[in-house]
Amino acid sequence: MMSDQDSFIERVLIPHEDIQQKVRELGEQITRDYQGKDLRVVGILRGAFIFMADLIRNIKLPLSVDFMSISSYGGSVESSGVVRILKDLDKSITGVDVLIVEDIVDTGLTLKHLLEVLSTRNPASLRVCALLDKKERRLVPDLKIDYVGFEIPNLFVVGYGLDFAEKYRNYPFIFVLKPEYYQPEFTR
Ligand code: XMP
Ligand code: MG
Repeated sequence: MMSDQDSFIERVLIPHEDIQQKVRELGEQITRDYQGKDLRVVGILRGAFIFMADLIRNIKLPLSVDFMSISSYGGSVESSGVVRILKDLDKSITGVDVLIVEDIVDTGLTLKHLLEVLSTRNPASLRVCALLDKKERRLVPDLKIDYVGFEIPNLFVVGYGLDFAEKYRNYPFIFVLKPEYYQPEFTR
């Protein structure tokens, strides 16, 4: 999967095979938990789109999808906790069993805000599935993530939907960039 051109890779944190295995397990668990429910899978753009596409193909239930786009003010590496809705859901979630799909939970500020916003719309239930959890960075102590793929250390990771300055989303594994590639001159 890696080639000579991928010289910006410091190290692969989660290989593709491990991701696929985990996504299958999460799909099976969600399939069991949502039997007979009216499941709406809500992807948070843009980071979650690859994970969500793989995840829903492992959920063996009738379901519908919707998307939301959120922006946190500040730089591309650090979360500021101030969240802005760039694109809201297309459909009402009142009375619907909503499963939010996130790429990564870091401080938890983004997710906390999102849960507050969506719970005011009275969904039948509201749960979260996150591929990655940087638990040691958490600033929201009581945040419940119902389904977690991998707990990871405090490293900025890219690949499998996650970006640095909009790059690297198309790599099928999760990896750490060499430090020099996190510099502003590599953001183009
Ligand atoms: P908080 O701190 O609010 O942040 O939980 C969640 C959002 O921060 C971004 N984020 C990352 N993006 N690699 C990324 O590509 C990372 O290691 C990383 N850590 C945090 C991401 O947008 C996430 O939704
Ligand atoms: Mg990003």
